Amino acid sequence: MSCESIEVTTGSPGETAVLGAALARWLREGDVVLLHGDLGAGKTVLAKGIAQALGVDAVVASPSFALVNEYDAGLLSPIARLYHLDLYRLRDAADLESIGFADLVSPVDGVTLIEWPERALAELPDRYLLVEITSAGPDQRRIALTPVPADGSWGNRGDGLRERMASFRSIPPRGEDRHHVAG
Ligand SMILES: Nc1ncnc2c1ncn2[C@@H]1O[C@H](COP(=O)(O)OP(=O)(O)O)[C@@H](O)[C@H]1O
Ligand SMILES: [Mg+2]
Repeated sequence: MSCESIEVTTGSPGETAVLGAALARWLREGDVVLLHGDLGAGKTVLAKGIAQALGVDAVVASPSFALVNEYDAGLLSPIARLYHLDLYRLRDAADLESIGFADLVSPVDGVTLIEWPERALAELPDRYLLVEITSAGPDQRRIALTPVPADGSWGNRGDGLRERMASFRSIPPRGEDRHHVAG
């Protein structure tokens, strides 16, 4: 079971950006990352952390008005391009068509990040990393990462993701005794 959710918490925007950077080192060309969470959850903070680690030499802002921003990654990055979508202002399927959404969700030369993916539910690909961010206090965020589908097709990448996230504080699965001390 290498593809169940990995849950961590961060205690500051900076820590979420560092988590994004750790995630960036796990990503491969062709990957799609869905960034799910309320307004102000930290989706763009996470996206900026990913972009910075990929060597994107531009200011990454929420592309709310453009729906998508495209960036060249750094020369040393194994990933050539970064596509950053924000579907908050998506109106209809014609909007998706106008930005070439079908190609953006199978990015041959890069990685695609999608904020507000639920606005395009019917058009989402079968395969993505779901990142769910929820507020757990003014500066606390719970971040759950789930490779989808959970059918084993991610192979050992689920384990690789767990390793990348190991340095962030993990949340014990519900019901497990937090205070259990071995011995
Ligand atoms: N642990 C944290 N991780 C990310 N953002 C945080 C955290 N704590 C506080 N924040 C604040 O929450 C806001 C997140 O903004 P943003 O990333 O633009 O949200 P979104 O893109 O999800 O709407 C920022 O103002 C940021 O400073
Ligand atoms: Mg945003």
